[in-house]
Amino acid sequence: MTHHPPPPKLSLLPETAPFTPEQRAWLDGFFIAALGLSDSGITALSPQESAALLAGGASAAEDDDNAPWHDQTMPLAERLKLADGKPLRRRMMAAMGQQDCGQCGYNCQDYADAIFSKKEAKLNLCVPGGKGTLRTLKSLYGEMGAAAAPSIVPATSQIATPAAPLDARAAALGRSRDTPAEAVFLSRTRLNKPGSAKETWHIEFDLTPSGLDYVVGDCFGIYPSNDPALVAAVIAALGAPADFPIKGRKLRDVLGDGVALGAAPDSLFQLFSYITGGDRRLKAKALASGEDPDGDALTLDVLAAMEKFAGVRPDPEAFIEALEPMQPRLFSIASSLKSNPGRVALTVDAVRYKTGKRARLGVASTFLGERASPGDTVKAYVQRAQHFALPENPATPIIMIGPGTGVAPFRAFLHERMATKAAGRNWLFFGHQRRDYDFFYEDELAGMRAAGVLTRLSLAWSRDDEKKFYVQDRMREVGRDLWAWLADGAHVYVCGDAKHMAKDVERALVDIVAQFGARKTDEAIAFIADLKKRGRYQQDVY
Ligand SMILES: Cc1cc2nc3c(=O)[nH]c(=O)nc-3n(C[C@H](O)[C@H](O)[C@H](O)COP(=O)(O)OP(=O)(O)OC[C@H]3O[C@@H](n4cnc5c(N)ncnc54)[C@H](O)[C@@H]3O)c2cc1C
Ligand SMILES: NC(=O)c1ccc[n+]([C@@H]2O[C@H](COP(=O)([O-])OP(=O)(O)OC[C@H]3O[C@@H](n4cnc5c(N)ncnc54)[C@H](OP(=O)(O)O)[C@@H]3O)[C@@H](O)[C@H]2O)c1
Repeated sequence: MTHHPPPPKLSLLPETAPFTPEQRAWLDGFFIAALGLSDSGITALSPQESAALLAGGASAAEDDDNAPWHDQTMPLAERLKLADGKPLRRRMMAAMGQQDCGQCGYNCQDYADAIFSKKEAKLNLCVPGGKGTLRTLKSLYGEMGAAAAPSIVPATSQIATPAAPLDARAAALGRSRDTPAEAVFLSRTRLNKPGSAKETWHIEFDLTPSGLDYVVGDCFGIYPSNDPALVAAVIAALGAPADFPIKGRKLRDVLGDGVALGAAPDSLFQLFSYITGGDRRLKAKALASGEDPDGDALTLDVLAAMEKFAGVRPDPEAFIEALEPMQPRLFSIASSLKSNPGRVALTVDAVRYKTGKRARLGVASTFLGERASPGDTVKAYVQRAQHFALPENPATPIIMIGPGTGVAPFRAFLHERMATKAAGRNWLFFGHQRRDYDFFYEDELAGMRAAGVLTRLSLAWSRDDEKKFYVQDRMREVGRDLWAWLADGAHVYVCGDAKHMAKDVERALVDIVAQFGARKTDEAIAFIADLKKRGRYQQDVY
């Protein structure tokens, strides 16, 4: 009987590599020794290690205070606690949504710094942070002793006079949220099959009239308009004529695209408190200061707030002043100009849910998924990605992890690599609820597999079996190969849900590096942090 040498616990070789067990054992030993790796097992992440991981490890250590609050999954109160006693600009940063999502036109730290240095007057730009961030920023701004400082720029001022460009880049039309260009809506195609629980659209715009361009990895910002039925209901609740003049426009039009009809802002409750009395006045005051007297504060959009204070009829102009201006929404670009000149494509999940009896609509996603018509012009801009791009070297392998709409930028990457005949290998992890209904771009991906552009496609369906199965579960299954790609210099990209998925994927990668890269957990965390620092681990999460 022949005795094979026991296989090393770690292997850098793909399972499919054509080696005998002896050859595999020898080669693994050789690579592990050559790379100076040690053979250690994996352990679960301790809370401290997770915190270090999420704080960005080595790169964050260069920060003046490690910005430990820079974690989108941490509640606002906890982030503020961590920043307690820090300089004001850092407390302002802790108040942000912490996604570096770019919707405000900055990353979180730069937005805080711009407010602190008074270069930015608008305190209401953080979409993920919502009302909590706005309230906190107003109070922190107050600490600057800026009695006359603008707490927010009122909606009507922004309708009449767009804010000044933030910097030279903004001067060109369509290059920033402050200077949108006009894109022409072309088409929408449903990406789910009938029977899906999701409603996701492939959207295309024509950029030729605007001359806008972009590179893969960038995002497309659009200014949506509100649902006309919602606008009509608000006008009815206000009891004002639809053509009531507001700064040269009609009330109907200002409500259509000038103001946000989502979460009722504190200033609306403030207004109600001025023009109502008794118990209702107290309630309005409480709501304006962030309290929740009836336990329904989170359900109050502008219309629900008006219904709660039914019969309170503010002056239409004061009402508009009390609302927030319409904010643009960003979408990851899902196309490449190299394969689709003059066009931009998006992958958009329509946000719809019910509160009580009323259907609520995500303004931008349903604008794209339902209300925009072919030929309509839409105010739009390209938000340049700061840290989300293909590797410079076209031969570098890439690993893309993008469940749900997270697949969008990876479709763009694949189109680009196909158009440029890039030699690098491409591995996509995609997942969604059910294979038969939610396999976005299935035929296209199959075509790219057949053409050899998509080297490997790994799928994870969360609702096909009783037990949830996610992209990170698939990654763990093929961890040995993932490590081999990493050892070959692959860049890793993650796109999609910021709150849970991105964190879980990162944790899985740490475990994979620990297990197959022969590192202790803290070394694996440092390894991932180093990948981030070198631009080899990039995220586009929201
Ligand atoms: C960098 C970046 C890239 C992005 N890329 C994409 C992309 O490629 N594809 C894509 O689809 N989206 C993408 N998004 C998200 C997108 O910008 C919008 O946030 C999303 O489309 C929802 O916007 P909306 O205007 O339709 O919804 P909104 O009107 O903003 O409503 C959303 C709000 O509704 C509430 N809500 C939602 N669901 C429920 C519920 N079930 N119950 C109670 N309340 C609820 C929440 O308060 C939520 O914040 C990206 C975001 C960023 C920052
Ligand atoms: N606020 C939230 O809790 C929440 C949750 C999800 C998405 N979103 C937002 O909804 C929008 C659109 O989402 P989408 O259409 O792209 O798809 P999605 O709702 O993000 O779902 C895509 C896939 O990811 C799975 N998933 C859920 N949790 C995961 C996790 N922790 N790790 C890995 N995968 C996970 C989903 O499974 P299951 O749904 O079967 O669990 C689904 O199969 C995004 O803006 C996203 O941020 C918000």
